Parts: sequence; structure tokens; C-alpha cells
Amino acid sequence: MTTGADDRDAVFSVRHLWKVFGPKAKRVPADKELAGLSAAELTERTGCTAAVRDVSFDVQRGEVFVVMGLSGSGKSTLVRTLTRLIEPTSGSISFDGEDVLALDKGKLRELRRHRAAMVFQNFGLLPHRSVLDNVAYGLEIQGVGKAERRAKAQEIVEKVGLAGMEHRRPTQLSGGQQQRVGLARALAVDPEVLLFDEPFSALDPLIRRDMQEEVIRLHREEGRTMVFITHDLSEALRLGDRIMLMRGGEIVQLGTPEEIVANPADEYVRDFVRDVPREQVISVRRAMRPADAEETGSGAALAPDTLVVDAIEAVARSGEHCRVVEGGRTLGVVDHAQLLSVVAGLDDEADAADKKAATV
Ligand SMILES: Nc1ncnc2c1ncn2[C@@H]1O[C@H](COP(=O)(O)OP(=O)(O)OP(=O)(O)O)[C@@H](O)[C@H]1O
Ligand SMILES: [Mg+2]
Repeated sequence: MTTGADDRDAVFSVRHLWKVFGPKAKRVPADKELAGLSAAELTERTGCTAAVRDVSFDVQRGEVFVVMGLSGSGKSTLVRTLTRLIEPTSGSISFDGEDVLALDKGKLRELRRHRAAMVFQNFGLLPHRSVLDNVAYGLEIQGVGKAERRAKAQEIVEKVGLAGMEHRRPTQLSGGQQQRVGLARALAVDPEVLLFDEPFSALDPLIRRDMQEEVIRLHREEGRTMVFITHDLSEALRLGDRIMLMRGGEIVQLGTPEEIVANPADEYVRDFVRDVPREQVISVRRAMRPADAEETGSGAALAPDTLVVDAIEAVARSGEHCRVVEGGRTLGVVDHAQLLSVVAGLDDEADAADKKAATV
């Protein structure tokens, strides 16, 4: 399992973070026995709720880091502690190497306004202001002059596809359009990181899909670091470079979509990803087998990160195996048997059997 505990180029670096709500919350992480209790036992014994329990991870520069989990698993609490919209109970958080817990009020305000902007589920728009002024709001707070902030806001409004609606009020917009305003407002301050707390869950599926595409496009064009909360697995798989799956305030698994689908950490994760179309997530690097001597000379070449779904097409078209090639070297081959076993989920069972064999 990838733990993400590598701070080479981390934007956020979080270690042993706890957030406990309730009376004398601080004693919970400090006391081995209390810290070890189940959620229900802890509430019964102390009246406290541990929303985030001993969580450590890094958000790498330029990645889309998805936090996923069912309702109540601690996602919002976790993301809010990152900029101390909620004060953590214990643990450490750094942002670009700076200790977030040591920031004074002014510095903290700067962090939230300029460096790590949040896009909320309920949009949080100012009802009496126009779209343009809503987008310019963050710049206004920063003290940017009127002409400059309007010009900047106009540019962003166009970027998120709202040209022509600059002078409407939020109530004159659809939910999807309002969310675009929320996104534009966060983007206008040009933050290093965008934090999204289930921004699209109120939108209907088609508009939601549109907004996901928008986020992917913005990410591709700007490479901005994003932390994205969702409880929707398909959204997580579509957007995430890495996904952190939470349950009861703890990390169950942290890895790429492919790692999570191909190699679920436990039964809970396996259940979670059971219905994912595996061929759309798993690559030929994982599906391939070693090549025979004669196979290395023939067959179409595929890059190792080619998805199985695309390899199926290549194999079907040529009627023979394909080679998985990196830097001119054949790493292995995939044929009908390999690719079908991915679709059928048999590769996962084979993996599990390999692991068992390795531990015996
Ligand atoms: N201010 C609070 N006081 C007490 N308990 C809280 C408070 N805020 C959150 N909790 C509890 O902490 C846990 C995690 O809540 P959180 O809002 O982080 O979950 P979530 O994963 O964001 O859920 P959802 O998907 O429904 O938004 C829940 O059990 C919740 O009831
Ligand atoms: Mg939430």
C-alpha cells in the first residue's frame, strides 16, 4: 500500500492528526486506551466523537488528491482542519513546509484567502452582488483596485464558461452556473491549492459531469494542486490522481485509482470498488505476463499505462498479443487471456493468491 508518507514535494503534510469533538477532547488522542476505543465505545465512555483519528498523509504538488468516504466518515472535518477552519485536537499540519498550527491570525487569514481557497457545496455566494462582483470578492478583500479586480474577474468568468452572465445575480442562475461562480471566485485569487468540499453533489448528473470535466480541464491547463472531497466513487476515480478512502475518521487506503481497484486493502474497500469497470482503471503494466522469446519480436507495442479497455481494442483488431514497451524495451505481453481475466476480476484473485503464497 502507498502511504503517501513522503514529503519530497508536499504542499500539505499531515501527521497523526486528530479531531475530537466533545468534552475534554484533548485527553482522547493522548490516552492510549481511549484512542483505541471504537467510535461507539468512545462516545459511550466520554461523550466525545472522534471525527478524524490519527491520520497522516501528504498532498503532492500538482496532484488531484481525492478524499472519499461515506457520510460521517470525517471528510469535511479533515479538510477544514487543513486551514484551521476547524482547530485540530492534536497532530501536525504543514503547508509548503510551514507549520500551520503556529500561524497567527493574520497569517492564517492569508493562508485561507490567497493560498488554499475553498469551494463549498452550497456555493456561499453573495446574493445581492452580480456574478462579476462575486468573482471579484476575494480580490476586493485583498485590497486590489476596482479596475484591476474587474479585469481579472472578467478573465476568470470567461475561463469557467460564464461569459454573458456577468451582470446577473446568483438567484438568476442555475445550480451548475452558481457552482461555476463559486469555482471562479476561488480561482480569482490564484491560490496554490483549491479545496473542494463535495462541490457538485447538489447538481444533477449531466451538469455534474460538465463540472467534473471543467475541473479536469483546469487541472490539465494549470497544474494546480487540488484536494477534492466526494462520496461518489465514479467521481473519485474520474478526478483523482490519488484517492484516500476514509472510514470512521481513519484512512482505510491511500493510492492511485488503479492501486485501489486492483489491490483493495481489505474487504471494506473490495466491496466499495466491486462494481467498478476494471478495464477502465487497470493498465497493461499490471495485466501483462512475461513474454516468450519469440513474442518479444512481434505484436503491436503499447505504453505501460495503456488502459486494458484500449488494449482489448488493439488485441481484437490485430488478432494477436500486444507487447508492453517502455523505452524500447519489451516489459511483457498481453493477449486475450490476460485482458479477459482483468474484466472478469480474476487478476485480483490471482494477486491475492500470490500474496498468500509469498507470506507462507
Ligand atoms: N461540530 C461537531 N460536533 C460534534 N460532532 C461533529 C461535529 N462536526 C462533525 N461531527 C461528527 O464528526 C463526524 C464526521 O463528520 P464530517 O462532517 O467530517 O463527515 P463527512 O465525511 O464530511 O460526511 P458527509 O459526507 O455527510 O458530509 C460525524 O460523526 C459528525 O457527526
Ligand atoms: Mg461533509
